[in-house]
Amino acid sequence: MTILDGRKTSSDIKDEIAFAVKEIVAGGSRAPHLAAVIAGEDGASLTYVGSKVRACKKVGFDSTLVKLPDTVTEDELLNKVHELNNDDAIDGYIVQLPLPSHIDSQKILMAVDPSKDVDGFHPTNFGRMALNLPTYISATPHGIMELLKRYDVPTEGKHTVVIGRSDIVGKPISILMGLKTKPGNSTVTLAHSRTKNISDLIQEADIIISALGVPNFVKAEMVKDGAVVIDVGITRVKDDSEKGYKIVGDVDYENVANKSSFITPVPGGVGPMTIAMLLTNTLKAYLQRIN
Ligand code: GUN
Repeated sequence: MTILDGRKTSSDIKDEIAFAVKEIVAGGSRAPHLAAVIAGEDGASLTYVGSKVRACKKVGFDSTLVKLPDTVTEDELLNKVHELNNDDAIDGYIVQLPLPSHIDSQKILMAVDPSKDVDGFHPTNFGRMALNLPTYISATPHGIMELLKRYDVPTEGKHTVVIGRSDIVGKPISILMGLKTKPGNSTVTLAHSRTKNISDLIQEADIIISALGVPNFVKAEMVKDGAVVIDVGITRVKDDSEKGYKIVGDVDYENVANKSSFITPVPGGVGPMTIAMLLTNTLKAYLQRIN
């Protein structure tokens, strides 16, 4: 069994980006610049955005954090998006989700200039991904593909079962795994809340990608010997620690690890990869803008 170490891989990618930025800046050019917009005080979102901004600093990017109150109106948020679209100093930006419930998220995401959409959420970028055209692939599915690539995990002709059909993980990763690419070229089943006999289906999988958000959903008896197990779950479960919670994945890691050929731990698997891929997308946006 091989652990797909997202912490180490993410750190390697950040080192590669930092090296590229050093060369760019030494050559007399400005550094890449990522902006992040957050509305409201959701604890998890503030933590994620904080990590993204810190990661920018680590690789030598400039960053701007736009903090808006949870009472921000849709028009005010749209104005901010237009401002960022027109700001030549910004190469790429993200609008952290979830947004307050009175705001139509789709309306906001559709207003982001696709050339600055380093989250890859705009329909243009999602469509380009599905057609295997150059684009920005969303951080989480991109991070999974990069882990599979860097560990040379065999995927061609394998049966991949994706659990969960969210717009930002399940749906895009099911498309990416079916593309004629390496990694990819796999036969994909997308399982969701209406899927019948989901345990039987998972048992047939060579590759399991679980993005459900239900702790310990994937149990050892559901997993075929030698399966590849990718756990995208990040559920906060209350405990007695100083933080008051721990992060738990979708997979019963203790019991599933022994049966698997490759497995991602939680924490330290897919999670750290997402920031590395956001930085990768931002560097790409920067290079496209200055060239
Ligand atoms: N909320 C959870 N994941 C993400 C992400 O990848 N990007 C944004 N913008 N919001 C998120």
